[in-house]
Amino acid sequence: MRIILYTGKGGVGKTCISAATAVRCAKLGYKTVVLSTDSAHSLSDSMDIAIGDDITQISPNLYAQEINVQHEMRLNWGSIKSFIVDFLSKQGMKGLIAEEFAIFPGMEELFSLLKLKQYYEEGEFDVAIIDCAPTGSTMRMLNMPDIMRWYMERFFHLERRIVKMVKPVMERMYDNVLLPTDEVYFSIEELYSRIRDLHEVLTNPDICSVRLVCNPEKMVIKESQRAYTFLSLFGFTVDAVVANKVLPKTITDPYFTRWQEIQQKYLEYAKQAFHPLNIFQAQLFDDEMVGLALLEKMGESIFLKQDPAQVFFREKPFVIEKNDSGYDLYLKLPCADKNDMNMWVKGDELILEIGNFKTNTLLPGNLASLPLKGAVFQEHRLKITFGGNSNEIPE
Ligand SMILES: Nc1ncnc2c1ncn2[C@@H]1O[C@H](COP(=O)(O)OP(=O)(O)OP(=O)(O)O)[C@@H](O)[C@H]1O
Ligand SMILES: [Mg+2]
Repeated sequence: MRIILYTGKGGVGKTCISAATAVRCAKLGYKTVVLSTDSAHSLSDSMDIAIGDDITQISPNLYAQEINVQHEMRLNWGSIKSFIVDFLSKQGMKGLIAEEFAIFPGMEELFSLLKLKQYYEEGEFDVAIIDCAPTGSTMRMLNMPDIMRWYMERFFHLERRIVKMVKPVMERMYDNVLLPTDEVYFSIEELYSRIRDLHEVLTNPDICSVRLVCNPEKMVIKESQRAYTFLSLFGFTVDAVVANKVLPKTITDPYFTRWQEIQQKYLEYAKQAFHPLNIFQAQLFDDEMVGLALLEKMGESIFLKQDPAQVFFREKPFVIEKNDSGYDLYLKLPCADKNDMNMWVKGDELILEIGNFKTNTLLPGNLASLPLKGAVFQEHRLKITFGGNSNEIPE
């Protein structure tokens, strides 16, 4: 099963583009499911069909589901949450606050994605399209498996061993002590193993791609760049960008001239910022994007003759590795000539000039706070070292 996640800043058109891609895939003969993990679902509104929290058939090849986030939460986290709430309450924390503490940001959406894992394993669908919540929530959702791994490796394994040793003594000594039972640990481990499997599927570039939806405007593109860097950092492959709401050239009303110039400028900027990704364009339609007929038209106009289910880009663009005193950032730069290369850091942006081509990469916080130490270009890979004391760039 091919998996495509759409994310981007609020209101850019994620739901419309997800639905349009799904309609197009179904038309091309793929058995397709479009899922929404955003608790503020709007797939139903966009497709103009009532979609339930159970899978709903839309047309012969097309299915949709607005995942019931609360239900998935109860199903996956219910027993563990009860334990955490009881535990915190016994420590004197008030009920409602304890309830809040027992849920981590990003968890709800992540549990919704476990539904996707189920479809992946059942193998009934050829394509699954995911309409994600706006960027911030999606980043938290996609970073959640890493956070859970951290907890599992550093906390639960260790704690379980300690609890096993002290439980009989503690329970004899104190009436009021609450220690996790084997069932609680089993639930945590079972859940964690499902999340780990899901993460493996989502970070496999042959199966899953993320697509960034943006509008050709400064603030939107900046957020997409940030998302691109973080997605790469988390190990997800972005295979394309969709620039939505592009004013058609046929509009000649002078009121829009300035907007057309601004959009052209940012489309050019996007080509550099997301190089070598393909930037698909979706025009601003003269109607609300509601109903299957319009979505089909939109899907066709974005992908033209191309198959929207294909993997447009496979390689992870950034690899960041820890070295002794900082980090090495590896960037794949096929066809680049070392003598044509220029590079500098401005604020939290790494600017790389190759010939008359320029890319701006927003650096994640841990790299941006370290000095740029050096750069080496070898075998089509640029290795940039951050950390240490030197600000010199030897190569
Ligand atoms: N290409 C387009 N032409 C015309 N209208 C569009 C286009 N794309 C999206 N819209 C309209 O813009 C609005 C927002 O679109 P949509 O709901 O898909 O955005 P979103 O990114 O999913 O928003 P949210 O962040 O709230 O989930 C909708 O009213 C939709 O009909
Ligand atoms: Mg939406």
